[in-house]
Amino acid sequence: MDEINADFFTGNRRRLRELFTGTAPILLSANGLLQRIADTNFPFNQDPNFWYLTGVDVPDALLFMYKDKECLIMPDTTDYGDIFNGEVKAESLMAISGIESVMENKEGWKLIEGTLKRIRHLATLAPPASYIPTYNMYANPARASLIRKLRDKSPDLDILDLSEHFKTMRFVKQPSEIAAIKKSVDITCRAINSARRHHYEYEYEAEADISRSFRRDGAAGHAYDPIVASGINACVLHYQENSSKIEEGALILADVGASYNHYGADITRTWSQNKATPRQQAVISAVNDAVEFSLEPLKPGVIYADVISDLRSFVGEKLRELGLIKTISEEEVFRYYPHSPHFLGLATHDVGDYHAPLVPGVVLTVEPGIYIKEEGIGVRIEEDVLITDNGYELLSAKLPRIF
Ligand code: GLY
Ligand code: MN
Ligand code: MN
Repeated sequence: MDEINADFFTGNRRRLRELFTGTAPILLSANGLLQRIADTNFPFNQDPNFWYLTGVDVPDALLFMYKDKECLIMPDTTDYGDIFNGEVKAESLMAISGIESVMENKEGWKLIEGTLKRIRHLATLAPPASYIPTYNMYANPARASLIRKLRDKSPDLDILDLSEHFKTMRFVKQPSEIAAIKKSVDITCRAINSARRHHYEYEYEAEADISRSFRRDGAAGHAYDPIVASGINACVLHYQENSSKIEEGALILADVGASYNHYGADITRTWSQNKATPRQQAVISAVNDAVEFSLEPLKPGVIYADVISDLRSFVGEKLRELGLIKTISEEEVFRYYPHSPHFLGLATHDVGDYHAPLVPGVVLTVEPGIYIKEEGIGVRIEEDVLITDNGYELLSAKLPRIF
């Protein structure tokens, strides 16, 4: 019952049509494959919205929905692709997606072009900027390239953006999505619980054990690059080298999440392989108090943005108690706690409305941290939480918070 199958994807397409009350056709692009070097690519990551409607993991595929018709349009195949990456069979795509028509690229574009002649509006997903300065990253070019092609063929076409509809749909998780998240959380809890019992000399040893545990438990891999940081490395929030020697007495921070059926966990624990110093213990205990403080109010009706804002003030008080700041201001707190909790799902930082009342089925993280570079101490504790009818379920409850 709680499986992700063709009924799930068919239901999502139906809900999108219901939410988008317009009569315009809907045309969505999969992500494209990104070159790593020469003829090798980075691991393929499907556009979560495209996957949410189709279950299809093929790069550059298109989904076209018009009136009561829907079809998948495949990218042009090449001998090279078929030989090196394997052939994609139309029957298997039909079985996954519940879509009855799978077309070759040429045939599909003929259909789209025929439709473009008769319509003024078309709905799709707005492309991100090609370069995202905040993250210093290039965005996947697939959506922009689809829009260029459409403009080329139909310069006056009015293009509508479906982003808000996807945000609404993906905000509340369905039972099959919750089951997948629970599975990835359980796998992650097991891996961290096992890692923290070992004594490691290098960060990569812990990373290797965690990765092995994920795969052995059936996860596809990591939902994001794992962070295993010791000592001052933990003050780099998205530290990914995981290669340093673990100095005697240093804390280890592991922020990892398994990916199962496209849904990820995002859990952090910080521990000492020896006995933590009183100062380390004080910081860990302050962060633990902050977790409890922000879990407490979680229930339907509560505004997540308020919980986050209260959490920041609470961490501010803890920073003052630890003698790190004198006055609690946003800037002062940001110096020692420069990140925030977020929704969790198909994306680690999932879509959702931070100012809307929480409802049952929303999955989110609670993740305070305190990073004191001058002392070489970085502590984060991160829990994954499901909002229920009456309150919340702590999905990562199987993993003790303090070891
Ligand atoms: N691991 C990324 C985050 O905690 O948001
Ligand atoms: Mn997180
Ligand atoms: Mn995390």
